[in-house]
Amino acid sequence: PARAAALAGGADTLDALARLQADFEGLDIRRGARNFVFADGNPAARVMVIGEAPGEEEDRQARPFVGRAGQLLDQMFAAIGLSRTAPDARQALYITNVLPWRPPGNRRPEPAEIEAMLPFLARHVALADPQVVVLMGNTPCQAALGRQGILRLRGQWTAAFGRPALPMTHPAYLLRNPIAKREAWADLLSLAARLQDGAQP
Ligand code: URA
Repeated sequence: PARAAALAGGADTLDALARLQADFEGLDIRRGARNFVFADGNPAARVMVIGEAPGEEEDRQARPFVGRAGQLLDQMFAAIGLSRTAPDARQALYITNVLPWRPPGNRRPEPAEIEAMLPFLARHVALADPQVVVLMGNTPCQAALGRQGILRLRGQWTAAFGRPALPMTHPAYLLRNPIAKREAWADLLSLAARLQDGAQP
């Protein structure tokens, strides 16, 4: 982590951070990955979504959340008027993951891997400077809050990286447990309400 912290701290722009992170040799999983997956969407967005790690499709396309879970993620945020392709920051979404490389066989990230990349993630949030962050599932909760238990954490506003943060259930979980979409919808409305409040003078 010390090496990552020194590297990440030297990045003054998102492009510089992406280059430094792509060259980071501290994680073995990079060797099994096709691509480095940094982020997608509009870095000026008010909302920054943090997921877990690239899956097979993300690894292939070098973009986060472009597989089935990503399609659901896009639908969820479209329902409150946010999209990764919106040019206007007020409707935009910026998306990244805790790990920029696909773990072998899509296994869960290990705690040491999460910790190793945390300085890059913290710098990423600081440089993008979103109004709020969404922690998609247990891995970003482990990274940002130091704890898991997403089914208890979800929907409860907390603070992460010095700003309001909303843990939500991961869309891959929602694909397996469609009944939980009801709570995810409530969380999206809570996010929309928070953005409304933030828009008041
Ligand atoms: N799941 C994630 O957490 N991130 C992705 O980019 C894709 C699937």
